[in-house]
Amino acid sequence: MTVLVAYASERGSTREMAQHMASRMAVALGPVDCRSVEEVGSVSGYEAVIVGSAIHNQSWLPTAAQFLTRLAPELAKRPSWAFSVGMVDALPKPFRKRAAELQQKRLRGFLPQEIPLRGDTIFSGVYQSDQMPALLRVLFRLTGGRFGDLRNWAAVDAWTDEITAELAKPSSTSSGNITP
Ligand SMILES: Cc1cc2nc3c(=O)[nH]c(=O)nc-3n(C[C@H](O)[C@H](O)[C@H](O)COP(=O)(O)O)c2cc1C
Repeated sequence: MTVLVAYASERGSTREMAQHMASRMAVALGPVDCRSVEEVGSVSGYEAVIVGSAIHNQSWLPTAAQFLTRLAPELAKRPSWAFSVGMVDALPKPFRKRAAELQQKRLRGFLPQEIPLRGDTIFSGVYQSDQMPALLRVLFRLTGGRFGDLRNWAAVDAWTDEITAELAKPSSTSSGNITP
């Protein structure tokens, strides 16, 4: 089984999460490649693909969105998953769950319909105070917002393990024909 974990990351937190997923999956599945979406010309050599992007302004980074559009026909033929990395856990606690739901709904709206994703999820990444204009920063803190490394590695591991378990099943790639 050769799996690809592809990522689009501006400051590195999404890349580190993708690398972590790839290493964890490799223990059970064998070779797992981890590459930036810009490095991937084709996924025809992979049996399964996981693609993730940092969220900017409620959308995936352009390179990740282009990856999906460009490779949609290939992705549709193999088990594929998507993850998004944002900052909802930086928000005041009462707003986090609802914000994550709304954001995930919005992000799902732009995923190409022809890719039948086996799953998609949203994680929090790293959100530093210099990523927000100074005035807003003060207001954000006063209303209970926070900055820092918000990554929940237990949640990342749990999602990765679900995918690993699915791919380890004998019939895991039967819905997708690997094309040259
Ligand atoms: C310009 C900008 C816009 C952002 N917009 C959003 C957003 O709309 N929703 C969200 O949840 N996070 C947003 N974030 C937070 C990033 O998604 C978060 O910091 C993420 O961890 C960045 O990933 P990276 O380190 O891989 O670049 C934004 C960050 C920046 C710098």
